[in-house]
Amino acid sequence: MRGFCLLLAVLFCTCLGVHRENFRTCDQSGFCKRHRSLQPGNSDYVVQASSLRLSKTSLMVDVLNTKSDVRFLLQVYGLQHGIFRVKLVEAEPIRQRYEIPIGVTLVAEPEQAELVYHGEVSGQLKFSLGDNQMVINTNPLRIDFLINNEPVSSLNAQGLLKFEHTQEKKGWFSSRVSSLFSFVSQPFRAKKEETEEGVEGEEGAVQEDEKPSDDERDAGMWEETFKGFTDSKPNGPTSVGVDIAFPGFRYVYGIPEHADSFALKTTKSTDPYRMYNLDVFEYELYNPMALYGHIPFMVAHNDKHTVGVFFQNAAEGWIDIQSNIADKSVFSNLADFVTGNNDVPQTDTHWFFEDGIIDIFVLLGPGPKDVFKQYASLTGNTPLPPLWAIAYHQCRWNYNDQDDVRTVDQTMDKFDIPFDVIWLDIEHTDGKKYFTWDGSRFGDSVEMLRNLSSKGRKLVTIVDPHLKRDDNYETYTDARNQGLLVKNKDGHDFDGWCWPGSSSWPDFLDPKVREWWADQFSLEKYKGSANNLYVWNDMNEPSVFNSPEITFPKDVRHLSGVENREVHNIYGMLVHQATWDGLLKRSNYKERPFVLTRAFFAGSQRSGAVWTGDNMGEWSHLKMTVPMMLSLNLAGIHFSGADIGGFFRNPDSQLIARWYQAAIFQPFFRAHAHIDTKRREPYLLPEDHMIIARDAIKKRYSYLPYWYQLFYESETTGMPPMRSLWMEFPSEANIFEKDDEFMTGSAILVKPVTEEGQTSVSVYFPGKDVVWYDIDTYERYVGQEERTVEAPLSKLPAFQKGGTIVPRKMRGRRSASLTHNDPITLIVCLDKNGKADGQVYVDDYHSYEYRQGSYALSHLSFHNFKLENNLVHLGKDFSTKEWVERVIVVGVNTEPKNIHLIDADHNKVDLSHSYDSQTKVLTIRKPGVNVAQKWIINLH
Ligand SMILES: *[C@@H]1O[C@H](CO)[C@@H](O)[C@H](O)[C@H]1NC(C)=O
Repeated sequence: MRGFCLLLAVLFCTCLGVHRENFRTCDQSGFCKRHRSLQPGNSDYVVQASSLRLSKTSLMVDVLNTKSDVRFLLQVYGLQHGIFRVKLVEAEPIRQRYEIPIGVTLVAEPEQAELVYHGEVSGQLKFSLGDNQMVINTNPLRIDFLINNEPVSSLNAQGLLKFEHTQEKKGWFSSRVSSLFSFVSQPFRAKKEETEEGVEGEEGAVQEDEKPSDDERDAGMWEETFKGFTDSKPNGPTSVGVDIAFPGFRYVYGIPEHADSFALKTTKSTDPYRMYNLDVFEYELYNPMALYGHIPFMVAHNDKHTVGVFFQNAAEGWIDIQSNIADKSVFSNLADFVTGNNDVPQTDTHWFFEDGIIDIFVLLGPGPKDVFKQYASLTGNTPLPPLWAIAYHQCRWNYNDQDDVRTVDQTMDKFDIPFDVIWLDIEHTDGKKYFTWDGSRFGDSVEMLRNLSSKGRKLVTIVDPHLKRDDNYETYTDARNQGLLVKNKDGHDFDGWCWPGSSSWPDFLDPKVREWWADQFSLEKYKGSANNLYVWNDMNEPSVFNSPEITFPKDVRHLSGVENREVHNIYGMLVHQATWDGLLKRSNYKERPFVLTRAFFAGSQRSGAVWTGDNMGEWSHLKMTVPMMLSLNLAGIHFSGADIGGFFRNPDSQLIARWYQAAIFQPFFRAHAHIDTKRREPYLLPEDHMIIARDAIKKRYSYLPYWYQLFYESETTGMPPMRSLWMEFPSEANIFEKDDEFMTGSAILVKPVTEEGQTSVSVYFPGKDVVWYDIDTYERYVGQEERTVEAPLSKLPAFQKGGTIVPRKMRGRRSASLTHNDPITLIVCLDKNGKADGQVYVDDYHSYEYRQGSYALSHLSFHNFKLENNLVHLGKDFSTKEWVERVIVVGVNTEPKNIHLIDADHNKVDLSHSYDSQTKVLTIRKPGVNVAQKWIINLH
């Protein structure tokens, strides 16, 4: 929702944009500087090949840092689906380092696969895993990965591996100024008073004579001060980092969340891309600053291969990227592999984290679909949402009271604008105490919920993880008394400032705490709630207004004793997962939950939806929705969206109208707005714009059967519903950078209008021998051409690919829940050979019965002038009333004389039709067949 600046805005009235100075640059981060200043060259790490130990699926070997004499253990596992896992840990750490437990990011212990050892040849240990190979170069350590003997990735090719081994503090002390002691033990300063000066001024608590020299401060090894906050760093320097090269690849993607282009940029003249979950007020576009959530997963793609790298580490991270031409320089140790061609591109990346271990999964594709499947096999899938959750959500900070909710509900109906969910932000609570209601405004919440449910509608309330420290607030006292709260470095409950004022945070790292949290969502505990109430987790990075970088100090302690430094980026995901579990429990594991989160990490897809946080009502932010969501979709966060209209500022109605259009084909479809903005429910727009917004929302509803099927595909295959062009056309090199167009599934190409006053756009149509049809007019375009397309304000340029069949529902309803039994219209767009394929997926749209087989999936195919529906699956006790009311066949060159249906009982029935010889569109009326039966329509 919003950030810390808001509070300050009240205090200073000077909130004009992102407060960059609240967030560290690489120069203000000791470990970032230490890693970034490394120069490519010979690595100090050497593999001791004689120590090699092999099992059927893994190897273990000692690695020595020849400079420090510290020993490490390298473990490599062969995994199913073509994945290598490389782990590097200290052989004898003096302190256990944090490793993320199974079930948090990894959905389960990954299944291993046979790793075949081919022996050592001149210092190289060679292995294979299916069609892929791995070569471990021993002196120095470098690990190369090859697909069919072609190198695609290499670890430590530049020699930037750096693993800061655990050390005792006294070694450092004896060798340095002991007067530092008083500095180190300065009590942590974290009261409200600092917030105010912390934003504007520099730190001032440290006496001049106690200050470390510049060198020591820069080193930042045993303590570090930022904006007056001192990080006590009791464990000293513990960072890890390594370079990862992608020979043959010009482009890499992923590592969301950044407000930047989809193809990642070279960071030579900027900071590295940062990964540290933060609440960034009014974030800037096109820079590598950290945002609310992060996924350390990167994909490299070229016209032959797609490979992925997942670096499993929950600490703060930074990634440098440089794309260059592979030549003889040190940057490209791998050039010797790439035979004789000097024009081979290469992308070198350099990853470093403040803590944890090196734990890298190399996903060897070889194609985009394979990489998505591989990544999902590790971190899990996006579960199929209930149908209503992919429909339209109406949100605002805040709907003031139950009368306001009722008025919005009724006015949407009056204007014939469908919606499924209305949302309540923080003001609905009693004093920002979550799980409570402001009784003067929501005294009849249960009746309000019942009223909504009569039209199939739902309510989402916000539940943030900060608990007001109030002795009369039971959720807090219960957590405090049971000892469930995050501790400060001195072992007391951490006390920070957030919406309710002084607050504490449950320690979601602890499974017992997550269980306690999940129980808070039962109808008995969450008074005034009902089964059609769902949840939104905000501020879960977490946002702490009076803390360094507006989040937990790095030295706060979790209940197991680990510092937040070690686990920071998974905290928000665990809030989300525990909330999800709460809703699951509430329905006794029968109903699909819905929980929206702002903070996220690898694996967050398992508990549902993510939005891109506090964007702005500006054209540039509308444009940014596409690259941001493509990055999220690539990294497994499929159910994602941006606030329609933009959260901050007052967008004009043209921008709002265009935003609704662009969002039709983006996965999560919610309008939201800041408390200080003018009301902007779609019916408040001037009539011409209201009609455009309404048409967009109705179009979204008409495509829900297609959207639903895409989410089914996402759950079963790991394919993202929103795709970059190269995911569908992987060998077309000229589209690798394209992020102003996208595909929804494999059938719909979208070019949203993202500039003010634009009435036509230039669209690139990908695909050799592919034809495309405008989804409104069926105008035809051919692949591998750039064309100007008219786009007056009423028009979203979108195109269906020839060769696809898309199901739609054309009847207007007030909510998606009322459409379950509605008939389907099939849009059949023929390819150059007069063929097309598609699917229809149908279940009960809300429960988990489909996991027991209670669904129908049919495959539709059009060929030789006939459309066939063949059942792929029909659940034993499953039936549906859904039937086909219309078939539109696009690209029919001559009108058929006669059309008949052969139904499930082999009856032959004549069907009526109309044909437009101009557009070559044939409309077959009322086949009247059930979607879950076998049938054929013949055209003669
Ligand atoms: C529920 O709906 C009824 C009928 O429209 C209305 O009178 C009542 O005020 C509504 N209750 C709430 C809490 O909105």
